[in-house]
Amino acid sequence: MTLHVKILLTGVLVLAAAVTDGTVAQQAADVADAAPMATPTAAPLDLRRMQPIHGDAQAGAGKAAVCAACHGAQGVGIAPNFPNLAGQSATYLYVQLREFHAGERNDPVMTAQATMLSDTDMRDLAAYFAAMPPKAAGPGAAGSRGEQLYLAGDPAKGIPPCQGCHGPTGMGPEPHRSSAPQPPWATFPHLRGQPSLYLAKQLADYKDGARAGSSNAKVMQGVAQTLDDDDLKALSVYLSSF
Ligand code: HEC
Ligand code: HEC
Repeated sequence: MTLHVKILLTGVLVLAAAVTDGTVAQQAADVADAAPMATPTAAPLDLRRMQPIHGDAQAGAGKAAVCAACHGAQGVGIAPNFPNLAGQSATYLYVQLREFHAGERNDPVMTAQATMLSDTDMRDLAAYFAAMPPKAAGPGAAGSRGEQLYLAGDPAKGIPPCQGCHGPTGMGPEPHRSSAPQPPWATFPHLRGQPSLYLAKQLADYKDGARAGSSNAKVMQGVAQTLDDDDLKALSVYLSSF
């Protein structure tokens, strides 16, 4: 038993060292790659024709140990700044990983994680987390301002009903079940049960333009412009409640 723990710990340390080395080199390379993206003429990643991705969930399981440190062994974040990944659309997860990898979406913690992944890794990990059951639904804050905004918006302030794009229960749009080409909105994420701290940060990032690296992020930027601090808080609390 003790020996087992020792081997495990050594493994983790070796992994941590490898991860750190790889990150520095890769980050330097990515900064070089990402530099032209910072110019005003750089176009955001166009996701309008993004089709469903395919990955090997079983291979993903073998690569997910490092992710579990923050996103949980069941794909449910272990702290309120870590998003849940379980049950999220595989295509959405893959696109986000690619954006972190390419520097189109930035976060001091997550960028370092994504720079080390190959395209196959990203597909496999996305397939793995998407296949997990989403976090169990909570009671929901029925009758709250957040619910009202989510379902009906506030036309006087130009706030659209969020459910139009994220689904009436926050589970995202239902993609076509056939093999027909998917519509552009098939890449929209589910929001239900995400921690309110994470949601509030994303809405603020869209509002001030920090998260703007894709055509989808541009859509959400327009929505976030209509939200004041109270709306943003009410929506984040509501979405984390069910
Ligand atoms: C040290 C903690 C940590 C580790 C380890 C980690 N992540 Fe993250 N991850 C984060 C944080 C923090 C965010 C939110 C970033 C932000 O606020 O934009 C995030 C965001 C994400 C997102 C975007 C989710 C969304 O809803 O948009 C994906 C996808 C993701 N991580 C996948 C992974 C995968 C796959 C791994 C393993 C290879 C991993 N993460 C490892 C901390 C971590
Ligand atoms: C016109 C469609 C549309 C509407 C309406 C809309 N969204 Fe979004 N939302 C999107 C798209 C597309 C994305 C993915 C953006 C990306 O890839 O960065 C997104 C992403 C998000 C995210 C980030 C999720 C994550 O896991 O990081 C949050 C939070 C969010 N929306 C909240 C809202 C709220 C709250 C409302 C209502 C006020 C709303 N959205 C209305 C299209 C929409």
